[in-house]
Amino acid sequence: MSRNGRSVNMEYLVSASVLSADMLRLGEEIEKIEKNGIDSLHFDVMDGVLVNNISFGLPVLEAVRRKTSVPLDVHLMITDPLRYVKRFAEAGADIISFHIESESDASETIRTIRESGAKAAIALSPKTPAEMIYKYLPDVCTVLVMTVEPGFGGQSFIPGTVDKIRSIRERITGLGLDVHIEVDGGINDETAAVVRNAGADILVSGSYLFKAEDMKKAAELLRAGI
Ligand code: DX5
Ligand code: ZN
Repeated sequence: MSRNGRSVNMEYLVSASVLSADMLRLGEEIEKIEKNGIDSLHFDVMDGVLVNNISFGLPVLEAVRRKTSVPLDVHLMITDPLRYVKRFAEAGADIISFHIESESDASETIRTIRESGAKAAIALSPKTPAEMIYKYLPDVCTVLVMTVEPGFGGQSFIPGTVDKIRSIRERITGLGLDVHIEVDGGINDETAAVVRNAGADILVSGSYLFKAEDMKKAAELLRAGI
């Protein structure tokens, strides 16, 4: 075990955020993700209410599901996730994360995601304290820590989120749970090292991965330190 209680053999996974893909060539972009050994595909759903942007939704997810067997990690940035989680699971989501800042009851949302056959994850925005999600830790597979304000790709990493990642990792270890910490926003080779060190093990990356000349090498840099 390392200093902060994580296993030294922790496996780091990279999830490619589709938001940064070329939407007109989405099929080719997915082939590229597969070819470069990316671990999962991160699918950002925004309703223009919980966050200041509107992205894509169920029909696109269904099309992506038909195209690939890569795990689909659906990040719901929507006001009432409880109303839609079953349909996202039916459309092919393997993991569904919803925001603690949303209006849905968190316990009921987690239960409904799991009953629908997907894995449940809980997301929190940069200004939300870690303590808000602690009571849900035994019931989720992943905590999604936003390292930028949700809504847009290509923003800069907020350094103030690092202590929160560390606190959540300590809590998970203290409870003896096996819960992933996924980080999302502004992740590149430099910030990846910082969040890995704080206890994150799933790294979402949009602009850094898609702008890289060599996506495979970029993903290896994100995972480096194994
Ligand atoms: C932001 C989204 C992120 C975003 C990450 O609200 O949740 O998944 O696409 O993009 P980058 O890696 O460019 O910050
Ligand atoms: Zn996201």
